[in-house]
Amino acid sequence: MSRDEVSVVSIAPKHELITGKMGKLSRAKISAIDIAVPPKLLTNADLEKLVATTDQWIMERTGIRQRHIVEPGVTSSDLGAEAALKILAKTGVAATDIDLIIFSTISPDMFLPATACLVQNKIGATKAWGFDLSAACSGFLYGLQVGAQFIATGAHKNVLVIGIDVMSGIIDYTDRATCVIFGDGGGAALLQPAGEGEDAGFIDFLFEVDGSGGDALCIPAGGSKTPATHETVDKRLHYVHQDGHAVFKMATRKMAEICSRLLERNGLTGQDVDLFVPHQANKRIIDSAAERLGMPSERIIINIDEYGNTTAGTLPLALNSARDKGMLKKGDLVLFATVGAGFSAGAALVRWGY
Ligand code: UT7
Repeated sequence: MSRDEVSVVSIAPKHELITGKMGKLSRAKISAIDIAVPPKLLTNADLEKLVATTDQWIMERTGIRQRHIVEPGVTSSDLGAEAALKILAKTGVAATDIDLIIFSTISPDMFLPATACLVQNKIGATKAWGFDLSAACSGFLYGLQVGAQFIATGAHKNVLVIGIDVMSGIIDYTDRATCVIFGDGGGAALLQPAGEGEDAGFIDFLFEVDGSGGDALCIPAGGSKTPATHETVDKRLHYVHQDGHAVFKMATRKMAEICSRLLERNGLTGQDVDLFVPHQANKRIIDSAAERLGMPSERIIINIDEYGNTTAGTLPLALNSARDKGMLKKGDLVLFATVGAGFSAGAALVRWGY
């Protein structure tokens, strides 16, 4: 099935439609979100003591004031299980009713097994299957859409999509080009079928990857290309390496462009969007996209000052902040946007369902 055909399925305006190949399709909606953030703070003042940087430089160049980081031993699956359990408690859905767990992360507890399996065990989701999804900053948005397809086909009724990163485990705190940006945390969403005739759920999406940008943001060693050796450790090749300029250039161009294309093919403009939820990598990237899209500032959620860039965690954290601030209510048209390593990019339109 081509990307366009999948999109046609996902933009179905009605609750159900019939397709020749797949049978009866349902529309998926997000019926709950929650977050997990470690309490410990790493402020700009703390970083001034670690590397040659200043609070002023970090604020002006990124918009970040602080980030949360885990205590040693706290893992991505711990935070993922915490967010998932909060969702189960608030929705009343039993752990045993979860069908699928998609765990989006680039900082799994271990390479093997998948973090989704660890969460499945921790929350007692004994009937669920699951897998990890590696798409860096785009991971949560890609995970939402993958989960939505399993609901759409009728295969599943309850899908947990988790976006969590414990970046502090893969960041070099001697490298000022990266350590000031990233933080730990994220959240989860429960996907369920929309009710009969309910105007809620996934409307359309546009996703892209461009692997020619792979070297601009990567962890050079530890995989099959450069397995771990004493030398790779000595050269600090197991940490995130970033060509900030290259990523910034791609991100500022791509975030606005992919959103414009998605809005346009749905006959919408930035003015029609009730809430813009962009990946939080750099406030300047968000401001630039918002300006190009003509998005009023009161409809954009920005919380990078509080959490930094939590990679797969930024979108659930942003949704949660928007709800806390009263910026997100049932029936709102939400535009998600993401750009990041890969390069990967994406935009999605969702009618908010609760
Ligand atoms: O979510 C994943 C996707 N990632 C992103 O979207 C990140 C995209 N990139 C960025 O956000 C920005 O490129 C950075 C925040 C990483 C860097 O900001 P910048 O405005 O592009 O700075 P720069 O790399 O052009 O550096 C400007 C100056 C340089 O000094 P000189 O050469 O002008 O003397 C850097 O050495 O700032 C210096 N610099 C710093 N100074 C203080 C770089 N990092 C720091 C720092 N503190 N932490």
